[in-house]
Amino acid sequence: MPPGDRSKELERRNLAAEEAGGKARIDRQHAGGKMTARERVEALLDDDSFEELGRFVTHRSHEFGMEKTKFPGDGVVTGYGRVDDRLVYVFAQDFTIFGGSLAEGYAEKIVKIMDLAMRQGAPIIGLNDSGGARIQEGVVSLAGYADIFLRNTILSGVVPQISAIMGPCAGGAVYSPAITDFTFMVRDTSFMFVTGPDVIKTVTHEEVSMEALGGAVTHNEVSGNAQFLAEDDRDCLNRIRDLLSYLPSNNLEETPLIESSDPWDREDAALDALVPEEPDKPYDIKELVTAIVDDGIFVEVHEHFAQNLVVGFARLDGRSVGVVANQPAVLAGALDIKASVKGARFVRFCDAFNIPLVTFEDVPGFLPGTDQEWGGIIRHGAKLLFAFAEATVPKVTVITRKAYGGAYCVMASKHIRTDFNFAFPTAEIAVMGPEGAVNILYKRELAEAEDPDALRQEKVAEFREKFANPYAAAERGYLDEVIAPRRTRAKLITALRSLETKRDSNPPKKHGNIPL
Ligand code: HXC
Repeated sequence: MPPGDRSKELERRNLAAEEAGGKARIDRQHAGGKMTARERVEALLDDDSFEELGRFVTHRSHEFGMEKTKFPGDGVVTGYGRVDDRLVYVFAQDFTIFGGSLAEGYAEKIVKIMDLAMRQGAPIIGLNDSGGARIQEGVVSLAGYADIFLRNTILSGVVPQISAIMGPCAGGAVYSPAITDFTFMVRDTSFMFVTGPDVIKTVTHEEVSMEALGGAVTHNEVSGNAQFLAEDDRDCLNRIRDLLSYLPSNNLEETPLIESSDPWDREDAALDALVPEEPDKPYDIKELVTAIVDDGIFVEVHEHFAQNLVVGFARLDGRSVGVVANQPAVLAGALDIKASVKGARFVRFCDAFNIPLVTFEDVPGFLPGTDQEWGGIIRHGAKLLFAFAEATVPKVTVITRKAYGGAYCVMASKHIRTDFNFAFPTAEIAVMGPEGAVNILYKRELAEAEDPDALRQEKVAEFREKFANPYAAAERGYLDEVIAPRRTRAKLITALRSLETKRDSNPPKKHGNIPL
């Protein structure tokens, strides 16, 4: 072939790759409110930073007349690029080619960038939009999925893995996002399920819509399978970029330092009055968090799920911290199964990726009830305890009000290796709340009293005076300091600065056995 023809050949092939599944299918993608795979990659990465790999890969199938239809790239765009000038690997499933369905060469492309991400120590981001296993390829496609699942597992805790569901994600395909650290879903255009509405109707006779079964709201609010709910594709991709700014590139690196003009010792007088003295009066813990962290910016994770526990990322002194906070405004901040699992998952992520943990505690205990007990709150609550106890990253806890019973131990108490434990003057640290304690301790006296209410009130006041304060714990050294709320930011930053060189580890073992 003459030299001029050779460059024309490359041009022709490149053009064919960019045309993806053709104009009609691209128009259909746009009409459905979705960007194409290539548009998504461009929007995710820094300008002109994308380097594509495997652009000319095609399928090798000869079944069902497939040999007549080949598309360069085979339905997935893969490669690497930069986010805020940091290396990331990305794959974007292309719904315009065979419905983004996964085949042999397609899986090999994803596996290739996963292996590169492992070797380079860079995050991997998967943009999912696929009809699942390519039906024409049969077991070869299933093998491709399993190859990806294996790598998701091996990469877990080594590099951050982020999934975005930006269209269908069905059947076993859901297990790749499920293993990754964070899953985003896009409102109205994404869905995820193991078996769809038709199969469910046949097997259980339940009727359910695609959206109710596995839409973005369902997985963010009900199942907790997704941690972020995006409004559209662009919002989703922007928020992935933002999340990455809080994360290190791998488990051996530190998080990026993002200088802030927010003074490290800024005091906030309003904080002195934020936590109500009345133990049953709710307040919004997020107000406290945003008042303390750099520039008031808090990126909540799992915002719509188990809202009685708030988790997310912020910065203190320019460095990422993982915030775990009971939310007195929801279920009085009690820990239930969902909150325990949510918290444990977040704590383990932070510990795996060198992100210090800052815990704000106001918890009346574990949620009572047969639902909780029969659902396994013992096992699930233990997950949160296990996660905090095994974490060796810097840990600082602030008890703002209640710290009762087992929940006191669980929420990063001194006894499970928390480096600094602070409390506000409003803190109440006790085996249980005054009312519960008095009902047990004075059961007989109350039964026999002429005026049981008056006696109860008297004893509750006595108990509160004696135990419902931070000083018994401070006298024992379980608290390092009782602090003025207005000084919380400076106290936390000073503590975290002193912990920058922290060294702690667990004994050598294959892995622990977290109570799953
Ligand atoms: C091959 C597929 C495909 C698949 C879609 N297409 N899914 N091709 N294998 N799995 C093709 C269609 O033939 C069509 O081709 C194009 O993609 C777009 O599909 P439509 O049906 O026209 O799109 P839409 O109406 O938007 O519906 C999307 C959909 C539907 C809901 C995803 O396509 C669907 O139900 N597909 C099958 C999903 C499924 O059951 N997959 C297997 C799940 S089990 P043309 O040429 O017309 O554009 C699984 C196991 C994984 O994945 C196991 C891992 C361990």
